Amino acid sequence: MNSETPQRIHRLDYTPPPFLVDSVELDVHFNAGEVLVNSQLQLRRNPLAALAAEASPLPPLQLDGQGLETISVAIDGSVLGQDQYHCSDSLLTIVNPPDTLTLRTQVRIDADHNSSLSGLFRSKDGYFTQCEAQGFRRITWFPDRPDIMSRYQVTLHADKTRLPVLLANGNPVGSGDEGPDRHWAKWEDPFFKPCYLFALVAARLDVLRDEFTTSSGRSVQLAVFVEPGKLDQCAHAMDALKRSMRWDEEVFGLECDLDHYMIVAVGDFNMGAMENKGLNVFNTKYVLARADIATDADYQNIDRVVAHEYFHNWTGNRVTCRDWFQLSLKEGLTVYRDQEFGADMHSRAVTRIREVRALRAMQFPEDAGPMAHPVRPDSYIEINNFYTSTVYDKGAEVVRMIETLIGKQAFRRGMDLYFERHDGQAVTCDDFVAAMADASGVDLTQFKRWYDQAGTPRLWASGHYDEEARSYTLTLSQSLPTRAAADATSEPLHSPLHSPFHIPVAIGLNGADGEDMPLLIAGEDSTADSGRTTRVLSLTDFEQQFVFTELAAAPVVSLLRDFSAPVILDFSWSDEELAHLLAHDSDPFNRWEAGQRLASRLILAAAEDISVGRAAYWPQTFVEAAARLLENAAADPAFAAEALTLPGEATLAEEMAMVDPSALHEARNGLRRFVAEQLGGALLHAYETHATSGPYQATPAAAGRRALRNLCLGYLGELNSAESRALAMRQFETANNMTDQLAALATLAQDDCPERVQALDSFYERWHDEALVVDKWLSVQAASRLPDTLAVVRELLDHPAFDLRNPNKVYALLNTFGNNHVRFHAADGGGYLFLATQIGEIDRLNPQVAARLARRFDRWRKFDQPRQQQASFALEKLRSIDGLSSDVREIVGRALDQ
Ligand code: TRP
Ligand code: ZN
Repeated sequence: MNSETPQRIHRLDYTPPPFLVDSVELDVHFNAGEVLVNSQLQLRRNPLAALAAEASPLPPLQLDGQGLETISVAIDGSVLGQDQYHCSDSLLTIVNPPDTLTLRTQVRIDADHNSSLSGLFRSKDGYFTQCEAQGFRRITWFPDRPDIMSRYQVTLHADKTRLPVLLANGNPVGSGDEGPDRHWAKWEDPFFKPCYLFALVAARLDVLRDEFTTSSGRSVQLAVFVEPGKLDQCAHAMDALKRSMRWDEEVFGLECDLDHYMIVAVGDFNMGAMENKGLNVFNTKYVLARADIATDADYQNIDRVVAHEYFHNWTGNRVTCRDWFQLSLKEGLTVYRDQEFGADMHSRAVTRIREVRALRAMQFPEDAGPMAHPVRPDSYIEINNFYTSTVYDKGAEVVRMIETLIGKQAFRRGMDLYFERHDGQAVTCDDFVAAMADASGVDLTQFKRWYDQAGTPRLWASGHYDEEARSYTLTLSQSLPTRAAADATSEPLHSPLHSPFHIPVAIGLNGADGEDMPLLIAGEDSTADSGRTTRVLSLTDFEQQFVFTELAAAPVVSLLRDFSAPVILDFSWSDEELAHLLAHDSDPFNRWEAGQRLASRLILAAAEDISVGRAAYWPQTFVEAAARLLENAAADPAFAAEALTLPGEATLAEEMAMVDPSALHEARNGLRRFVAEQLGGALLHAYETHATSGPYQATPAAAGRRALRNLCLGYLGELNSAESRALAMRQFETANNMTDQLAALATLAQDDCPERVQALDSFYERWHDEALVVDKWLSVQAASRLPDTLAVVRELLDHPAFDLRNPNKVYALLNTFGNNHVRFHAADGGGYLFLATQIGEIDRLNPQVAARLARRFDRWRKFDQPRQQQASFALEKLRSIDGLSSDVREIVGRALDQ
């Protein structure tokens, strides 16, 4: 067993690398049962590091490795004896190297038994790689850090029939036979890149080819490689790729720099996809789609992930990260870019609403829990644990706030300047913000605290209308919950605790007639902004006042339009004011938001009642609003569906001092049932009038109609009547697309009825050969609110459909169960013990996946004493496992010790 205690890495400890690698030549031999990697590196001392080191003895040459069986090491042509270098499990040290040298190493790797899916691993159809963040060291000895950029040449040698497709980054420069059964292929990447962007594939795959001509007339060969027989599921991904390429030219003036752009789909993959230069590797679930097996959400996710990886080619690959603390430099920015792409492809408002819903369900709890960390973390033990919603999604919000503060045009100039300054470099978040500040002339010094302070700020607002002065005074103040701030700031010496953020607050004032009122700030030239009905206020102090003048009547204030900052807003609108905003706000996001607030208010009050044994009370406010939404749904069914979707239990739980998950669950479902009882006729009418006819289309309009219908079906399901079950069953049986079929199945799976069993069985019967559909079948069962869900999940572990080694299966069954708020947090602790045990099992196969699952425990301290005891018992048990990975140890340690 490895007894080394894992080290904590600190952001401020960064030093430049002592050696640079100018070029890399790899020869990879796929033999029966082993892979041999011969590497030749051109190294030289880094002039920057030499300067920094001054007189002290020059540092040795050190290379990272993991799980490598070293066969030989040679410098400048001579093989080193055992005494000329030192080789541990993770470091190859050469004590007195020349200032420039050629280093050859030969290693053997056991890709067939690499269940971590990091480095080089075997999947069903062949061999694939995953090098971000630190997987390249599992392939060959190398200084594995993103600030070393090199040119790569790769030659692959393999069996012709077993592994007919041989791919690597860049351009194919040669190929041929090696004897009767084997062949080789050589690839050359003309671009300097960090090793985390390295990729190769040796597999048996089918390919869909296409071509793209860039705006300057260059031709790019496109290819999507998939498991044999799945070519009919590639068209949407290819189309998404071409739309992404065009969009980046049009919106950011960024052209594809490659001759070949390849996407390879693989069924065993830890995350969504990886932006390897010119050779993206994708989880099959973000490539494969066909109407009968993929939902509207799948189609939209494919759009987004394909775009995300393509956009990385500029934001991540051409300009990369100096160190892993800067991860949000590429991830936050690229998520922002894929969000904008999504908004342009689909409805901007609905896209934004869904993103904020996800942010509140994932990132807000993260930022309030033991894993809270700044967008640019201060320290980590396992970098893989910091591919988080904070780095990705809050990071994107931070980029979006910059755009809001400096304006769209200045933002585009900032992007141009960023590339002009840093193309080909490995840089920091400071460099990005500096480009934005310099291009706009806006001082972003204070704004940068968003990168350094963890926790979700609270924005407190209050307003007062002065009839005589015809003015409205808005007071804004901000605070950061001290616990989160204190927990998440591991280096208080360097980051002062809680200084005020620079918060862009977009606001509007709505009048009694439902129209926006003028927005004139006292003391400002009133002609400057006449006619503008949304303005962005900059809150930079702990508290500030803004006075709006020339208002004939009291306005209803619309705050934080389009969710202009990732904060928790506190303002005491009356129910009537919320209903008014829901009906009239010119900002669609805030229309939705008003409905969410109204619903939250009712559910939280009911949960409190239920908690103390009182009956829940449902006033008409939300039902009346819902009735109006249904009446007017035809104008924008997708929006209506979002507005009628109640906030989720995990999101609501964040607003409770102590969570009673059963009461919360009962309250939320109680409101759903109340709406269904009151509006049954209207729901059925909307269901019937929004039917789509003809063949399935993945268009936003058609998807919006399906979303509304399926929302209605779900509400009607709350009645648990013979009619509602028959309706769901009919949809299940007659659907010509997976969206409708799955929605019907999910509705039936919520109640203990014969139709539930019938539908689940026939679904599996029909789809058991489609891995991604089987994942949906597992998820639907794990998400069921039925009391015996844990027992069902436990049984599914032994079902042939399940596989502990496959991340998609693990996420579908176990992560879904961990997100099943009422069942995972069952009072008897059964959910906790079950998941902890499974995490321990998975950890032996795949620490990254195990650590992600362990995050389901993050919020255990928000529950009552008995639950806390059960959770901490399960976590301690997990922590006591011999040989537990540092990945899981870091997550569990933070959960228990903070
Ligand atoms: N950089 C990838 C992205 O955001 C994500 C990623 C990081 C990843 N590490 C990974 C994907 C490991 C798969 C496996 O697009
Ligand atoms: Zn990314």
